[in-house]
Amino acid sequence: MKALILAGGAGTRLRPITHTSAKQLVPVANKPILFYGIEAMAAAGIKEIGIIVGDTRAEVMSTVGDGGQFGVAVTYIPQDAPLGLAHCVLIAEEFLGADDFVMYLGDNLLEQDLSAFVHAFETARNGAEPPTAQILLKQVPDPHRFGIATLDANGNVVHLVEKPADPPSNLALVGVYLFDKTIHTAVASIEPSPRGELEITDAIQWLIDQGYRVRTELLSGWWIDTGKLTPLLEANRLLLEKIETRLDGSVDEASAIDGRVIVEAGAVVINSTIRGPVAIGAGARIVDSFIGPFSAIGDDCIITNSEVEHSVIMARSTITDIPRLEDSLIGREAVVVRTQKRPRAARLMIGDHCQIDVE
Ligand code: G1P
Repeated sequence: MKALILAGGAGTRLRPITHTSAKQLVPVANKPILFYGIEAMAAAGIKEIGIIVGDTRAEVMSTVGDGGQFGVAVTYIPQDAPLGLAHCVLIAEEFLGADDFVMYLGDNLLEQDLSAFVHAFETARNGAEPPTAQILLKQVPDPHRFGIATLDANGNVVHLVEKPADPPSNLALVGVYLFDKTIHTAVASIEPSPRGELEITDAIQWLIDQGYRVRTELLSGWWIDTGKLTPLLEANRLLLEKIETRLDGSVDEASAIDGRVIVEAGAVVINSTIRGPVAIGAGARIVDSFIGPFSAIGDDCIITNSEVEHSVIMARSTITDIPRLEDSLIGREAVVVRTQKRPRAARLMIGDHCQIDVE
């Protein structure tokens, strides 16, 4: 079993962060989104991972490397234009060969361990009526945003449709799929959709139409497609819910640590209150500040005389004299400073290297 992780998408809905950085490398709970997917594949026993990369390939390749840090071997497969998920399978054919594989969308985050999902497919493949594919479904409140499945009375999938205006059900296709080699014939047989992409949804529909068996599983834990600010902050919150306290950095006596908080080595907390769950990255400095629940402060950030809550602050940024910063995503090496002393709450999404003066 191999894995194919898709990390080529442009991340237009997370601009300006994604002007300078890959959306799959935006950190949640201080770890790049993409790492969770790679770790999930490694935990399911998969050793060979192909990663589809696009315009941000240099950053993805230098961050993930050869996969050794995860105990896997990574092969990079460049995609020159975002021509769809099924196009990714098409260009990965040489890497995948005739092997079964998991396809994982690099911006999806799942609570559930995927081992059981992978093993269920392996077991079914050795059974009497081996499936050629397995999809993972989850009930969602906003089905027009996803690929949507219609099941028959026996729970078998009969129809799939991509982002329907009039959704036939609320069962969304989660971005984790299992395939055998038949998918290569499917992706070569379909035509681009109205949005000009080769849709994996159409390729799976092709399998169904040809009479191949497609298994379905229902996901029980949470699942987030992190492509936008609100779901990204929600993923950050859900992952921070799971942390355990670890204080490897230094916290002075004038500071208070409340609830579950990670302070990484080299971080310094001076005269501040940290109310968890919060993660503070290595080398960060928190001075005369309040860091409230569900905040992830990146490595080497400097937060002075400010209040931050429910926000992701990426590495090496500086926040100074901000009375309240909430629900915000701040890029790397950004500078946010208040020049006038009026009390104001700020809600920001700002890119790397920006300088924002809040008046
Ligand atoms: C893709 C798939 C869609 C699926 C979704 C899951 O959509 O096309 O079927 O439900 O991922 O995240 P995209 O996010 O590429 O628009």
